[in-house]
Amino acid sequence: MAGRLACDAAEPALALSSRARQSRTKGYPVGRRVLVTGASRGIGRAVAEAFAAAGDRVAIHHRDSAELAERLRTTLPGGPHLVVQADLVDPAAVQSMVDGAAAALGGLDVLVNNAGVYTAHPVLESSYEQWQREWRRTIDTNLIGAANAIWCAVRHMGPGGRIVNVSSRGAFRGEPGQPAYGASKAGLNALGQSLAVALAPHGIAVSTVAPGFVETDMTNEHLKPPRGDGIRAQSPFGRVAAPAEIAAAVVWLASAQAEWASGAILDLNGASYLR
Ligand SMILES: NC(=O)c1ccc[n+]([C@@H]2O[C@H](COP(=O)([O-])OP(=O)(O)OC[C@H]3O[C@@H](n4cnc5c(N)ncnc54)[C@H](OP(=O)(O)O)[C@@H]3O)[C@@H](O)[C@H]2O)c1
Repeated sequence: MAGRLACDAAEPALALSSRARQSRTKGYPVGRRVLVTGASRGIGRAVAEAFAAAGDRVAIHHRDSAELAERLRTTLPGGPHLVVQADLVDPAAVQSMVDGAAAALGGLDVLVNNAGVYTAHPVLESSYEQWQREWRRTIDTNLIGAANAIWCAVRHMGPGGRIVNVSSRGAFRGEPGQPAYGASKAGLNALGQSLAVALAPHGIAVSTVAPGFVETDMTNEHLKPPRGDGIRAQSPFGRVAAPAEIAAAVVWLASAQAEWASGAILDLNGASYLR
């Protein structure tokens, strides 16, 4: 049956504010209730800013960056926005974080699975213990953390709901020094495609962006010369992306117009890797 998911949440699914309902009739919903994971910094921060600028209300998720998240909350236009915390490797923490965000916002219209880790563990130079640790941490955060956030979030969503996953070019190009990262993002791509099919009958669209290098804390060290010059040269534009360029695509994929992009994996890599 199409429509609302089985839901034991306090709020009815898709309990849109009257402002959101009015705007929806004009084709572009504003005043949506948006949860962005890893929004304290980098791409997630730019995504939160872009949704807020579009008139949406944002739950800014972080793990350890309470101060950064709170500072962002106070600078975002509109609102009210809120800050939520959870370590994504902890399933119980994810559940209370998502349920808490939905309760405060009065439901959820959009989940952006952005939080992620990118750590080096080259196969020939890593100890077996390090190899175990980085694989576990990376898969638990980037893949299972996102899967758990989706499981929790869809119980607060209804028709028109949107899930956008932030994957990586590395899923296709390979990550020789960070193999668990490449594998986690390939898994995230497959997760998004599976759930695009599973959730379409409920009116929920699921899509994925796959950025190449973006200028954030995650890539600070990599982008310093001389290595950074080589990375910038991977694109014929001779540069890497700004976080706002990824955010613009995420906001579009979360829009009402983008239902037909469900299942898509959108390359955002400045033509640095064509597949
Ligand atoms: N930067 C790039 O070049 C690039 C390229 C392709 C894809 N991506 C993807 O884009 C996403 C954002 O990357 P970024 O460059 O903006 O990263 P970033 O600047 O390092 O920020 C990472 C964010 O994820 C959060 N986070 C990390 N581990 C977490 C955990 N266990 N539980 C909860 N939150 C956690 C961090 O929270 P705290 O601040 O609290 O630690 C932070 O908000 C990631 O999924 C990344 O894989 C990035």
